Amino acid sequence: MVINLCKEHSLISNWISEIRDVSIQNDRMRFRRNLERIGEVAAYEISKILPHQTKEIKTPLGVANHLVLQSQPVLATILRAGLPLHQGLLNYFDKADNAFISAYRKHHKDGSFEISLEYVSCPDLTNRVLIIADPMLATGASLVKTIQQLEEQGKPAAVHLVVAIACTAGIDYVQRLAPHAHIWCGDIDEELTAKSYIVPGLGDAGDLAFGTKMQS
Ligand code: URA
Repeated sequence: MVINLCKEHSLISNWISEIRDVSIQNDRMRFRRNLERIGEVAAYEISKILPHQTKEIKTPLGVANHLVLQSQPVLATILRAGLPLHQGLLNYFDKADNAFISAYRKHHKDGSFEISLEYVSCPDLTNRVLIIADPMLATGASLVKTIQQLEEQGKPAAVHLVVAIACTAGIDYVQRLAPHAHIWCGDIDEELTAKSYIVPGLGDAGDLAFGTKMQS
């Protein structure tokens, strides 16, 4: 299932426009906060399809029955660019357990690169709902590797991916290699450059959120 959250008129489209906009995106605090807000809306949308149960709530004056989440999901993020989106999910799933994984593009002299996963910190995922935050779904290689790595910690009941901007090639790749994953996108672009940047995209999400880094 692929959901484009930008399809209908809503605030999310305003925030996506700001993280793309060269005259706004260099305001780092605003860039991070916009990603966080996209994570908050995605959390709300995902919550609508998570299992709920009825709970009897005692108020000072009586009893009310409410549907509440059966259990909290596990929120995972790919360091470092996923952190603001992750924070947005955590603002809403505020009792969630969390997983972190480091993935980066290890560049070769010929210009090609491979995805290197190193740090992994993850609870048991057996029968849990897993939600993975990654702002840019470009080739899909790091997300697929992340899903495979995290699923070694137990088979989740469901896997949701939350991305700010996805490109169609990356969506196709994830759907081929991880067809069970639901993909929630802030917006979807068509083009990917030879260096695997999304066009029009927004540039480098990690650098915009946290500053430039030395090339590895
Ligand atoms: N990662 C980014 O930060 N930007 C892209 O366009 C692709 C991957």
